[in-house]
Amino acid sequence: MTGGADAVIRRWDTQTGEPIGALPFDTANDPLAAYGNDPGARVYRACIACHTLHPDEGNRAGPTLHGIFGRRIASLPGYNFSEALKRLNIVWTPETVAKLFEVGPARYTPGTKMPEQHIGATDRDALIAFLKKATQ
Ligand code: HEC
Repeated sequence: MTGGADAVIRRWDTQTGEPIGALPFDTANDPLAAYGNDPGARVYRACIACHTLHPDEGNRAGPTLHGIFGRRIASLPGYNFSEALKRLNIVWTPETVAKLFEVGPARYTPGTKMPEQHIGATDRDALIAFLKKATQ
C-alpha cells in the first residue's frame, strides 16, 4: 500500500510488485494511516472489515484483536463465538496466530465463522510483527 501525491491509496501485490488497483479509502479516515508504510499494516488491511485493534473500538463481525496475545481462543467476554471454538485448546501467541493463517482457519479452528484465508510466509511475519505492536 502506498500513498501518492494524488491522495489515492494503491495496493501492490507483494510477490510480484504489480499494482492491484486503487482502494476506496479516504486517507483522513483511514484507521491504519498512523502506521504509514508498515508492511504488516498493509497485510492487516485484509482484517479491518471484521476486527478492531483498540479497546474502545469494540467488536465488528469478529472479536476485537486488542490484547489477542496471551488470550485463550473464544474467551473474550461479550463476543458471541462459535461453540466449536470454545472447545479448542489454543492460546493465541505469535506462533499460533501465524499458524492460523498458514494452515487456514477452517483446518486450524474447525467450525469457525471466519472466512478461509491463507497468508504467505513473508506477509505472515510482517502481520505478526504488526499485531505485536498494534494489539497491546
Ligand atoms: C469477514 C470477516 C473476517 C475477516 C476478514 C477476518 N476475520 Fe478473524 N474472525 C472473524 C470471526 C467472525 C471470528 C470469530 C470466529 C467464530 O467465533 O466462529 C474471527 C476470529 C479471529 C481470531 C480468533 C479470536 C479469538 O479471540 O479467539 C483471530 C486471531 C483472528 N480472527 C484474526 C484475524 C486476522 C489477523 C485477520 C486478517 C488477516 C482476520 N482475522 C480476518 C472474522 C473475520
